[in-house]
Amino acid sequence: FAFTPENQKWAEAQITKYPEGRQASAIIPLLWRAQEQEGWLTRPAIEHVSEMLGMAYIRGLEVATFYFMFQLQPVGSVAHIQVCGTTSCMICGAEDLVAVCKERIAARPHELSADGRFSWEEVECLGACSNAPMAQVGKDYYEDLTTARLNEILDDLANGTVPVPGPQNGRYASEPLSGLT
Ligand code: FES
Repeated sequence: FAFTPENQKWAEAQITKYPEGRQASAIIPLLWRAQEQEGWLTRPAIEHVSEMLGMAYIRGLEVATFYFMFQLQPVGSVAHIQVCGTTSCMICGAEDLVAVCKERIAARPHELSADGRFSWEEVECLGACSNAPMAQVGKDYYEDLTTARLNEILDDLANGTVPVPGPQNGRYASEPLSGLT
């Protein structure tokens, strides 16, 4: 693995932001840039980033495996669907959303669809519990999901359209509750 010249320059600039001896603090942005470049985090990429920061590979791997934002295996070329399966989402229908993913993408999490364009996994709480159930697609949250709406979102993505993220039923958690204003 090697960063592109542009990414290498960017990564070196990130490292200079931290005091001497604290270069390891740049691990997350550098891993993220490596993932954006390759589509997922390969072992050579984690080794390269760790080496740039003077860290043992195992320490880089510890960070990469801690966060759902890092993918340690190939993901769908169009979209990787991360369905929240924690309590609020589970109560509000996450299992049904997972069933849609199993039926339309692949039987098991992290498997690629037959055409290689989609993949999915179940993740822990993504912090949008008030709009459960929800799923993250790339950097976007799709909230207040139903199986019908998830199917439409998958159709749109397959056709090259990125659906508008956020609450899918028009409800916004930030709206003031009646009687409190
Ligand atoms: Fe699903 Fe928190 S429980 S976002």
